[in-house]
Order: sequence, then C-alpha cells, then structure tokens
Amino acid sequence: MIRELSDHEVNALHYELLLKDIVSTAEKLPPFPDIVWKVMPLIRNMAPIEEIEGVIKFDQVITARVLTLSQSAYYGRRSKITSIQDAILVLGGQKLVQVIMIACAARYFQGSVSGYNLNERELWEHSVATALVSEKLARRLRLKKALTIYTASLLHDIGKTVLDLYAKIYLHSSLSEITREGVRFVDMERKALGIGHEELGELIARRWQFPPEVVLAIGHHHHPDRSPTDKDIVTATYISNEIVNAMGDTNGSGEPARLDEDPYFIRMGVDRAMVERLQDDLVTDMQEIKEFLRK
Ligand SMILES: [Fe+2]
Ligand SMILES: [Fe+2]
Repeated sequence: MIRELSDHEVNALHYELLLKDIVSTAEKLPPFPDIVWKVMPLIRNMAPIEEIEGVIKFDQVITARVLTLSQSAYYGRRSKITSIQDAILVLGGQKLVQVIMIACAARYFQGSVSGYNLNERELWEHSVATALVSEKLARRLRLKKALTIYTASLLHDIGKTVLDLYAKIYLHSSLSEITREGVRFVDMERKALGIGHEELGELIARRWQFPPEVVLAIGHHHHPDRSPTDKDIVTATYISNEIVNAMGDTNGSGEPARLDEDPYFIRMGVDRAMVERLQDDLVTDMQEIKEFLRK
C-alpha cells in the first residue's frame, strides 16, 4: 500500500531536491583559470618578462581584460600601456597579480543578479570595490597575506551568482518579510533555499582549489566568529564588505551606519577615521576603474 506523504515529508523532499540542484549548478561552473598561480612564482623568481607574458597570453580573453584594466587610471596611472609587456613593467608584481585576478574573476559575474534585486554589473562592481578596500585595509593594518584577503574579498559573494536564479524563484515572496521583520537577508536565504551564498561560495572556492584561508573567508564573510581558524583574514574580508555596503546606506535615521561600533572593527582597530578614509579613497578609485570593468 502506498502511504501518503505528510506535508512535512513533502517539504523535506522539496528542500533536498532543491539543495541537490543548487549544488550541482555550482559544480558546473567552469574551473577558475590558473594563470595567477602560474604567474606568481615567476614574479617571485624574477623571471624574464617574456616568460610572464607567455603565461598571460596563453588565454586571449584574459589578456584582453588585463590590457583594458591596465589602461585605467587606477592601475596604469599616466603611462601608455599597449602591450602585456608594458603592463608587466608599469604595474609591477603585486598590482599585476591583482589585475590578473580581476580579469579571471570577471567571467563569473557577467549578467545581472536580479534575484538579489541588483542591476546588471552591480554585484561585479560591489565585488571589485570590496577587493580594492581590502587591499588598503590590509596595508593600513599591516596584515600579512594581503593577496589572500584581496582574493577572498573579490570572490566573497560568488555564491550569489549561482543562487540568483533560485533566489528569483523562491526568495521574492520572502523579501517583504525581510523588510518587515528585519530578518537578515543571509538568514532568510538559508531558510528559503536550504543554503546561503556564504556556504555555496565556500563550496565553489574549495572546488576551484583556492587556498584554505580564501575558502574560509568566503564561507564566513558575514560571520567571522564562526570561522575555526584564520580569523584576521576572515574578519578583514568581513570589514571590507561592510565598509562597501555601508556607503550611502543609512540605518533608517538618515545617519550612516556606525561601523566603528561594530565589535569586529573594534577588535581589528578600525576606527571611524579609518573607515571614512577608506570610503573616500574608494569613491576616487571606483571612478578611475569603473568604466574599464564593463569592457
Ligand atoms: Fe555576502
Ligand atoms: Fe558583499
């Protein structure tokens, strides 16, 4: 005799299938290009420029993006960059690696993420902005592993690119609830879809074989206290994201959010003056780079 499933069982089955589907979509993402990992040891060992150029030029799409980004005022300053060799010379090792990282990440952020009520390119610009803030934050706080923090910041919301379609279908009915009851979006995401963009991002970064600290920072960028290790890296990623999120954002009273009262900011020694400085710098930096991100 066939037993009728209870509502609870149907719900559980629905979540199980939904979660399986989300994870399998994430697993179908193309692998992250390994150019950065190939270029880094060459820079470290001061390899000839032609050798570094050879690695970058292997991928035409990335080569084109590296060139475009290098022509932005943010990276190229006033130099005229017309070839990868120029870019290598003008940018130098650290900036070159950052540009390659942006060029590699760009493909995963093409298209809109309307499930999150974001316009076309908004998530991509938010991701780059977070990476730019993280770079200066790491320098100000003299944190080690600046590139790790930069990479995690750039890719912290990668999970949203996969969850978007599902968010569009399943989350919209919950959006009013989020505003009405002040439920945090990240919590609602998990409630409605069975997985949040943090966990999904962690899964993607692990599949891409990123260093464990990057995986952890992506997986805990809204809850650094939950990270078992590497708290400084995870917290720096959290702080960079919060600084970008707070720009133009108010807490309902017309006043900007008081990030300097956030316990994570206090623990890392990020005071109000530093937040304002980082936000001011970001306005200029984004003006210099924004149009080059769209090309
Ligand atoms: Fe996030
Ligand atoms: Fe974010």
